Amino acid sequence: MAHRNRITAIKAREIIDCRGTPTVQVDVWVDDVVCGRADVPSGRSTGSHEAYELRDGGSRYAGFGVRKAVANVNTVIADALIGRDVTEQRAVDREMASLDGTANKNRLGANAILGVSLAVARAAAATLNLPLYRYLNSAAHVLPVPMMNLVNGGKLSSNDLCFQEFIMMPVGATSFSEALRMTAEINAILRPMTADRYGKLAINVGDEGGVVPPIVNVREALDLLCEAVARSGYSEHIGYAFDCAATHLYDSQTGRYTFEGKNLTRDEVIRFFEHLVAEYPILSIEDPLHEDDFEGFAEITQALEGVQIVGDDLFVTNKERLALGLQQNAANAVLWKVNQIGTLTEAMETASMAFRNGYGVCVSERSGETEDPMIADLVVALDSGQIKTGAPVRSERTAKYNRLLQIEEELGSAATYAGRDFRRPV
Ligand code: PGA
Ligand code: ZN
Repeated sequence: MAHRNRITAIKAREIIDCRGTPTVQVDVWVDDVVCGRADVPSGRSTGSHEAYELRDGGSRYAGFGVRKAVANVNTVIADALIGRDVTEQRAVDREMASLDGTANKNRLGANAILGVSLAVARAAAATLNLPLYRYLNSAAHVLPVPMMNLVNGGKLSSNDLCFQEFIMMPVGATSFSEALRMTAEINAILRPMTADRYGKLAINVGDEGGVVPPIVNVREALDLLCEAVARSGYSEHIGYAFDCAATHLYDSQTGRYTFEGKNLTRDEVIRFFEHLVAEYPILSIEDPLHEDDFEGFAEITQALEGVQIVGDDLFVTNKERLALGLQQNAANAVLWKVNQIGTLTEAMETASMAFRNGYGVCVSERSGETEDPMIADLVVALDSGQIKTGAPVRSERTAKYNRLLQIEEELGSAATYAGRDFRRPV
């Protein structure tokens, strides 16, 4: 055939995510016979430096419609990409970035561009008859530690707990499937325990599937989680982590953070974590300070030596912001969310830059997800060793865990569970 592996059609549509909010789904057709499909996730606790999500405004879906982004895919982007080789991911992504022409993908929308970028990767893998993780990395073999957000707070919940995510990490499991079983068993202990202590409303779940008890105090929430773990008998295999999302706890007028109802300075926040880390086996802390405080991130990284400090709103998966962080030794890991930057190629470049400099890479869901398990393939493709994709409930979360089970099975004896090496898996 003369035109093999050519993109012959691109079709976007508006679908809804797990919150009932519209998002973009894209189909990319190759040689008129193979289709790659991808959905675009969306955050709620977003960083201000993220790529631009194009929403329609107006009254339809309270302004959150994505018909403009869909139209951009079906017209401008499709016109530019039809006829291209689908395996030229980098060229395709560059072309879309230059069509857009803005730093933040303001014109076409990062949600339009990302949908195409991810669907192109899927279509290319399908054309070559490869699973996506193997298409992206033929040597991929690391199964990640699931960072399970079992207690929700902050913007992803209806309680007054300041931190957004209380996470347990089954680093002592011997395989991904064992890690998943342990966490599901622990969650099954945690739920009735929470209901007994805080009443039945406390076990309604937050946006990422964790319980939402009416707790204000960080230690009380952590103790609840630790107690469920202790009852399961798995304590020696489990470490803990937080996403503090401290940008949303920070008041730029006063320069202070509201933690547990108290107003703290940056130094007091750092002391708060020093005490916490001394008392609990904490492995990882995400966004302990606000999104522009590179200097503070450098200080806390040094103060909490041995703990992974992850920049989410700080780096927004953006190479330029990561470079700023590297210059100052701010944090030592990147939270990796493809929609923060808008193309697979750019996200991969940020991950490579992190790895080259000894930083960890934690692949992450958004609070607004669909049933698309894409990030499961991406975390294995990166061999990054860690994934944050919510509690082991709600299908938009379990879709990712279940896809990882399939990948583990496919890899067979080649699969390596990252375990305690999650920051730099081998
Ligand atoms: P988001 O929350 O997807 O709403 O940003 C997740 C996170 O902050 O890590
Ligand atoms: Zn975060």
